[in-house]
Amino acid sequence: MNGIELADSSRTRYGAIAQTFHWATALLVLIAFIYGPGGSEERVYSSARDFDRQLHESLGLCVFALVALRVLWQLVDKRPTPAPLSRWMRVGASGVHGMLYLLLFAVPITAIAGAWLEGHPLTLLFGLEIQPLVGASHNAGKTVASVHTWLGDTILWVAGFHALAGLYHHLALKDGVLVSMLPRWFPLRRPRGD
Ligand code: HEM
Ligand code: HEM
Repeated sequence: MNGIELADSSRTRYGAIAQTFHWATALLVLIAFIYGPGGSEERVYSSARDFDRQLHESLGLCVFALVALRVLWQLVDKRPTPAPLSRWMRVGASGVHGMLYLLLFAVPITAIAGAWLEGHPLTLLFGLEIQPLVGASHNAGKTVASVHTWLGDTILWVAGFHALAGLYHHLALKDGVLVSMLPRWFPLRRPRGD
């Protein structure tokens, strides 16, 4: 076995590409959430809200594309060696990660379906529009759009809990889980230093 294989087989961090996917997704979800267009349908689609809605929809579609690429990347990528955790923590962490992936797909899908069923095109930055690919069914669209806003709030709560769990690993369990998602140049080291 040569040196490269050896280093790879005992990996302590996610690779640079997986980390970039992770932090880019986290940042885009946060900014999309901040620019979430709220209120009645008339307000959401009013010209006064054009910029916020276009930014929100563009960032949301980037999240959708990123998560699809990220899942494909995971098929070929090598993950770090898991930290030694109790069974319930392993199950809990997998459950939260699974829920985050589900939400990362469900949030944009319900947004797109809701807008199209309501009869609106997707309105993106630089005046780009994607016309509905499904026939309008206004009431169903309204329901799906409200599911989207609910899931949009939920992903922030779950991600917040997930972030706290990352900090708990670092500060209380003193393992390398948080550091595994950080680049080498980031000035934070594994607490036990091993
Ligand atoms: C990860 C990505 C996304 C997150 C976290 C998110 C989150 C949210 C939240 C929290 C709201 C409600 C805002 C409020 O009530 O103040 C909202 C509304 C909305 N979002 Fe998103 N969203 C995302 C992606 C998208 C995408 C991809 C689109 C369209 C392509 C979109 C279109 C909309 C629309 C049209 C509304 C208004 C819904 C209505 O009440 O009719 N969102 N979003
Ligand atoms: C919207 C925000 C976020 C989303 C959607 C998100 C999503 C995810 C997902 C799906 C994973 C599973 C690993 C993978 O398959 O790549 C993960 C891992 C991880 N995330 Fe996040 N994350 C977010 C924010 C954060 C924040 C703010 C922190 C730190 C404070 C964080 C720390 C970590 C760590 C340490 C791991 C590795 C966990 C392990 O390997 O057991 N994440 N994240």
